[in-house]
Amino acid sequence: MENALNVAVLVGSLREASYSRKVARALIALAPQTLNCRIVEIGDLPLYNEDLDATPPAAWTRFRTEIGASDAVLIVTPEYNRSVPGALKNAIDVGSRPDYPSGWDGLPAAVISASPYKLGGFGANHHVRQSLVFLNMPVMQQPEAYIPEVASLFDDDGQVTASQGRDFLLGVITAFAQWARLINSGRDGKVP
Ligand code: FNR
Repeated sequence: MENALNVAVLVGSLREASYSRKVARALIALAPQTLNCRIVEIGDLPLYNEDLDATPPAAWTRFRTEIGASDAVLIVTPEYNRSVPGALKNAIDVGSRPDYPSGWDGLPAAVISASPYKLGGFGANHHVRQSLVFLNMPVMQQPEAYIPEVASLFDDDGQVTASQGRDFLLGVITAFAQWARLINSGRDGKVP
């Protein structure tokens, strides 16, 4: 079998009991062996300031190194005020500097949004995609993943309860594994 792809999983919420983190953990548990997924933490990244890049904070260097070692990026995020949570946008900005093209360049990605409410974080999902277009990250188109009423997906231990929800997440991560492999084949210069 080919080597597993390293997948950086970014969680857009810093909250301890975050539903987005639960969704991320569920996706990681359901991932096929062709993916090696791990959560790359973003909560310790100082706010991006170009001046600081003269001597980058250690957390920025750690984050950039982890993204540099990744073959793909999975983003799981809530929606804040119909857009991207600041912590996630900051992580995207930190990873986008100082090199050009940046460490994000060419990495296949998928965006999964989740909300306790009915709209499933659609606004955040598409605002993240706007940044990924600029960063030249091919984003999986289907299945789209806007998870509404996310609280109903989990029991008290953070396990996915409903089989429908589990099947949906399995479909997302399985499609992503194929998508990430396809894009990486192209990046290696091989015919997929
Ligand atoms: C929210 N929330 C929210 N939900 C939503 O569906 N659309 C929105 O625009 C917003 N806006 C918003 C702003 C701010 C500042 C907060 C703190 C919250 C509610 C949000 O979806 C809810 O708190 C989630 O549980 C947050 O995700 P995690 O932390 O559970 O992953």
